[in-house]
Amino acid sequence: VAKQPIPDTYEGLPVVTAEEMQAIDRKAIHELHIASTFLMERAGQGVASETERFAVEKLGKPVAGLLVAVCCGRGNNGGDGLVAARVLKEKGASVRASIIAPKQERGYPAEVTENLLKAKAAGVEVTQIDDASQLPADFLSGADVLLDGLLGTGAAGKPAGLVKDLIQAMFKSNKPVIAIDLPSGIHPDTGYHTGVFLNAAVTVTLGLPKKGLLAAHAQKHVGDLRVVDIGYPSEILPKK
Ligand SMILES: NC(=O)c1ccc[n+]([C@@H]2O[C@H](COP(=O)([O-])OP(=O)(O)OC[C@H]3O[C@@H](n4cnc5c(N)ncnc54)[C@H](OP(=O)(O)O)[C@@H]3O)[C@@H](O)[C@H]2O)c1
Repeated sequence: VAKQPIPDTYEGLPVVTAEEMQAIDRKAIHELHIASTFLMERAGQGVASETERFAVEKLGKPVAGLLVAVCCGRGNNGGDGLVAARVLKEKGASVRASIIAPKQERGYPAEVTENLLKAKAAGVEVTQIDDASQLPADFLSGADVLLDGLLGTGAAGKPAGLVKDLIQAMFKSNKPVIAIDLPSGIHPDTGYHTGVFLNAAVTVTLGLPKKGLLAAHAQKHVGDLRVVDIGYPSEILPKK
């Protein structure tokens, strides 16, 4: 069977690699002085809206009372998850979040720390973990839907350590997964995985569609693909 080429555009938007997306992000922040917290807020709001839509349309449940478990890594993908957790809590969902503990010497990126505090202040129950056994007992099994904020475009190589353990626990739970930016374990540029990955019901990709998400072989991992505009001005988007 001939391999289908990945299209250059999707829904009228340029399809980008992780490196291209990172360059656009840096331009927005450092040249146009758009606050990274603003981008993260828009990202999390988009993820929350798509989670609500999924709950209503596919689970037949309103967002009020929806049981949501958010798994966050220690990068910005986790920060997007923390914003989504707060927004869903404000909409009446019952939200718990877990976040991988920071490397002692480095801490979290500033936007992640800020959104960790804001999520807690909004009443989200947040557990910091350095081992999967520290997750509350029914954290995954008691949820209606899981949000995957473990790995985004900053993923490098095969998932390892606690990230790997959490991906496997989420996979085994058989709960529907909403992936933030991309399903953890799926390569942003190729759509391939290395054996540790999630199959999302919905992937909410941020800013622009990532190349790997459009590969024919990735469709079973990506689920429904939604692109959320997080406020990158059109003049910094590549022309394709
Ligand atoms: N301005 C914004 O706020 C903004 C804009 C655009 C996108 N985003 C979001 O941020 C994401 C990118 O954030 P990011 O660059 O901070 O990266 P990330 O995708 O959040 O991933 C970085 C984290 O993953 C860990 N990691 C990477 N590869 C791993 C592996 N193979 N196994 C286990 N752990 C691994 C890193 O560990 P170490 O700590 O050990 O390095 C690091 O903690 C995007 O996908 C999007 O969701 C945010």
